Amino acid sequence: MTVSAALPTIKSRVLVAGATGFIGQFVAKASLDSGRPTYVLVRPGLATCPSKAKVTKSLHDKGAIILHGLISDRENMEKILKDHEIDIVISAVGGGNVLDQLALVEAIKAVGTVKRFLPSEFGHDVVRADPVEPGLKMYKEKREIRRLIEEHSIPYTYICCNSIASWPYYDNKHPADVLPPLDHFKIYGDGTVKAYFVAGTDIGKFTMKIVDDVRTINKSVHFRPFTNFYNMNELASLWEKKIGRTLPRVTVTEHDLLTIAAENIIPESIVASFTHDIFIKGCQSNFSINGPDDVEVGTLYPDEAFRTLDECFNDFALKLKDNNKDVGSNVKARNFKTPKRQKHRGFLLAWSLREERHKYFVCDEKWFNNVVR
Ligand SMILES: NC(=O)c1ccc[n+]([C@@H]2O[C@H](COP(=O)([O-])OP(=O)(O)OC[C@H]3O[C@@H](n4cnc5c(N)ncnc54)[C@H](OP(=O)(O)O)[C@@H]3O)[C@@H](O)[C@H]2O)c1
Repeated sequence: MTVSAALPTIKSRVLVAGATGFIGQFVAKASLDSGRPTYVLVRPGLATCPSKAKVTKSLHDKGAIILHGLISDRENMEKILKDHEIDIVISAVGGGNVLDQLALVEAIKAVGTVKRFLPSEFGHDVVRADPVEPGLKMYKEKREIRRLIEEHSIPYTYICCNSIASWPYYDNKHPADVLPPLDHFKIYGDGTVKAYFVAGTDIGKFTMKIVDDVRTINKSVHFRPFTNFYNMNELASLWEKKIGRTLPRVTVTEHDLLTIAAENIIPESIVASFTHDIFIKGCQSNFSINGPDDVEVGTLYPDEAFRTLDECFNDFALKLKDNNKDVGSNVKARNFKTPKRQKHRGFLLAWSLREERHKYFVCDEKWFNNVVR
């Protein structure tokens, strides 16, 4: 028997915790785009952080109702859930705050009216994946949250969306915020282990399709878009096509990744342990999705396309072009002194002294050579 998605007649009221964060922003925007009444929980103290205040304002301008509080404050969370008759709670709190969700789970249990809870997962299936420390600690905490949700019989969905569409830097928590390499590639192992890459906007879009779909109650939903299944070598070739030149490839061995993980520098070592799990052990694809508690998002919404990794890399190439354009016009208009070059985390940076301050720009060799000439 095929069960199709029920079309809810009344739009569910959604609360997003962590909406000023990396994943949470995509989810909150998608919730607003879906037309659901969207409540956004922000931590007090926004005034001290202009970037978070800006995100909050932009969500508010799109129609979000801003609430203040901490998910670890059970009493306040109960009040918020009751007062606003919240149907769906989505948590996207960061990896360091996973256990703050214990109080939120208790509040959801006490209120008893929440129809679905999506805890902060948004990565691998934490029960199947088994990274080395310090990444394992975060997975143990996510598993603990899962256990409590299930013990309390709270309806849930776990979003296992795999990797964000970007170059998977082994030491960067949010690699989608930076361009793929411009001077050389660091290839993990032999570069043949594949992973799934998903655009942030698609994480948001599909999450909001899943939240009140009856077929996803008490399931782990896996994101495995076949158009976005790449290994490191293929990913490097894709980026080379976009920038129109080849770059040297340097091997980062399994031992290198384990050494960086063992250094226990947070968050870099956590990212290194996940990188090892993905690109050495193959944790995203070394199991099949056929258990009663699993479902693949493509089988739920076969007519709904994912942004392809090719398209996402086009965006990075455009960004690179824009950066270079900006730099070029600044140099001309403001009579920069001859830029100097510096390598930082695999990027070539051009820098120049203006108004007594150093200005840095990411650039490539071609741009640098043109400007200097
Ligand atoms: N698949 C992937 O490639 C990928 C990539 C990154 C993250 N993830 C996963 O996605 C989830 C979110 O991570 P992220 O990196 O997006 O997080 P993030 O950028 O660090 O943002 C965390 C958010 O949670 C809020 N927050 C933290 N503790 C809170 C509390 N006690 N009460 C209320 N709000 C709280 C933060 O508020 P403030 O703004 O006040 O700090 C912020 O809005 C994690 O489970 C992570 O493992 C997956």
